[in-house]
Amino acid sequence: MRSRRSCLAVPGSNPRFLEKAQGLPADEVFLDLEDSVAPLAKEEARKNIVAALREGDWTGKVRVVRVNDLTTSWTYRDVIEVVEGAGEFVDCVMLPKVQDPTQVVWLDTLLTQIEKTMGFEVGRIGIEAQIEDARGLVNIDAVAASSPRLETLVFGPADFMASINMRTLVVGEQPPGYTEGDAYHYILMRILMAARSHDLQAIDGPYLQIRDLDGFRRVAARAAALGFDGKWVLHPTQIEASNEMFSPAQEDYDHAELILDAYEYYTTVEKRGAVMLGDEMIDEASRKMALVVAAKGRAAGLTRTTSFTPSA
Ligand code: GLV
Ligand code: MG
Repeated sequence: MRSRRSCLAVPGSNPRFLEKAQGLPADEVFLDLEDSVAPLAKEEARKNIVAALREGDWTGKVRVVRVNDLTTSWTYRDVIEVVEGAGEFVDCVMLPKVQDPTQVVWLDTLLTQIEKTMGFEVGRIGIEAQIEDARGLVNIDAVAASSPRLETLVFGPADFMASINMRTLVVGEQPPGYTEGDAYHYILMRILMAARSHDLQAIDGPYLQIRDLDGFRRVAARAAALGFDGKWVLHPTQIEASNEMFSPAQEDYDHAELILDAYEYYTTVEKRGAVMLGDEMIDEASRKMALVVAAKGRAAGLTRTTSFTPSA
């Protein structure tokens, strides 16, 4: 699985940002043709994106292009121009405002046709689906099952809040007047369940108050604690924070690796199932939890600082 702790939005209409993004430590960049690009700048943005993908150095980053949604007239040309022009350099196409599975199937089919025409490997380019309104959320299980190309389900809080008439203009923050719990809990959990039941990654959307890094960390911590894999970032200052929030802490990573080693030793060498590791009882379920944390730590480039020695 690709690491997507931080997913950096880069407007395709801004060549300076397309250049600058290449040097930033985001796990993913998505070059945008949708809402950060003005209608009259869309055609130019396609060309900028093709050039940036072909000529830029995106080493180590997941390269994604966000096309326009299927209620517009731009989508098919977005996909054709970008994928014909730079398909070898695209890891995923992000489809915004997905409302039902047929929209993902449309993109899957179009990608296959382009790949065959161009002689690209068929099926290599993945799809990221943004869930941005009530209909998309209600249909999310079918969306999650709609294509083997799908890699992520992405929450789009700004469009979502608008679509359900939530009474706030501050994206990511709680609506004033709502004091019981977290107004986003249901939506986040719904996305997470659909993602996990289809082996997809779950990605939280943007936090628009880009000068409020504490606010960003608070909101990112919420999604990370639930199990989300990463979050959008809109500004360089949010990248480090997001990478940190969606990586396990060093001590949790060390502990996870220790559990895996201990469990392996006791179950194979001593043939015991439920064993003690220090004061903690571990069993097969602990191993599964440890696998998740260890995998995230390894993907984040952590190295362990402790090792396991069997107690006598
Ligand atoms: C992102 O696309 C959002 O609508 O929040
Ligand atoms: Mg949106």
